[in-house]
Amino acid sequence: MKSKRVHLRTFGCQMNVRDSEIITGLLISRGYKLTDKPDDADVILLNTCCVRQHAEDKVWSEIGRFSKLTHKPIIGLVGCMAEYHKYDAFKIAAGIDFVCGPNDIGTIPFLLAQALERDTKGIAVNQRQRDEYVYNTDFQFDKESCFVNISEGCNNLCSYCVVPLVRLREHSRNYEDILKEIQQLVGKGVKQITLLGQNVNSYNSENINFPRLLILVNQIEGLKTFSFITSHPKDAGQELFIAMSRLDKLKKSLHLPLQSGSDRILKLMNRGYTLKEYLQKVADYRKIVGGAISTDIIVGFPTESEEDFLDTKEVLETVKFDSAYIFKYSVRPRTLAAELNDDVPQEEKERRHRILLELQKVISKEKK
Ligand code: 5AD
Ligand code: SF4
Repeated sequence: MKSKRVHLRTFGCQMNVRDSEIITGLLISRGYKLTDKPDDADVILLNTCCVRQHAEDKVWSEIGRFSKLTHKPIIGLVGCMAEYHKYDAFKIAAGIDFVCGPNDIGTIPFLLAQALERDTKGIAVNQRQRDEYVYNTDFQFDKESCFVNISEGCNNLCSYCVVPLVRLREHSRNYEDILKEIQQLVGKGVKQITLLGQNVNSYNSENINFPRLLILVNQIEGLKTFSFITSHPKDAGQELFIAMSRLDKLKKSLHLPLQSGSDRILKLMNRGYTLKEYLQKVADYRKIVGGAISTDIIVGFPTESEEDFLDTKEVLETVKFDSAYIFKYSVRPRTLAAELNDDVPQEEKERRHRILLELQKVISKEKK
């Protein structure tokens, strides 16, 4: 039988990039071939993000386009949007053949076989925890640099954020499994590892916390360098910074999302720290580690006044992050912030967004 060809598109964050790598490994080991061309594909998989409405719009429009292909490929909606829209995806886009949430990607070969053989709509969502076997697909996009998941899901309830709804509660992988995975990768010639988690700082497996895990990873023979994303300011502190400063293989860089420079807005966002506390962590990091620091900012959160916005601007001016990702607030239904009135007009969000982008561009250039 001729191998079925799969076209896989990835949207969103590094978690999704790693998930696409897992999916590719699962499919290749079952005889599927990958293709860059949707026109040649028997199957089109979209591994998706729903962090902002804009991310979703792109996917719905791609699905619309793929649904019109005359050779009628199987279309699978995979990842965060699949979980988020498990009840309405087939209604929104009739062309979808199956939906599969991020924790259920291990079932994709089964869903695909079912879709290819029978004419039913498949659904796999909301599995409580990922099966460990998905991490052992033995397939890498890059021969030298790889992502390794250390935890899944998120226990914080930042009011704007959809992640806990789609990637569910936090689960730390067993530290021995993580170390074994890295050792195997290094054995295959991998030189650089990025540890992945929504909030790596709350990692905990059998009393191995995140700084301890870093120490163990640093000891792996043959590994050249490693880094991690993402940190939550409320859980990153002195113990982490001291470990960072001592580990020779660990890249000295920290992504520490601030989100807003206004304490009132931080409270509404349910971030669990004040600006003063955040700035103290930055000062500690700079003193103890002395490496690069980047951040995420959201402008136009409900009730954000000009004064709140100027507070955020001032933080960018004074901290001088090496880089900052600036986003316009996007309401995510079923999050806590969706209860608040999205009262900053779109043009105003765009103005604030533009101002911070321009400002950060100058700062990033200065710091290079
Ligand atoms: N609207 C705008 N930006 C958001 N982010 C998360 N949720 C939203 C939202 N509803 C941003 C945050 C986060 C980054 C990954 O995306 O800044 O750190
Ligand atoms: Fe990543 Fe969040 Fe987007 Fe999911 S919703 S792909 S976890 S950024």
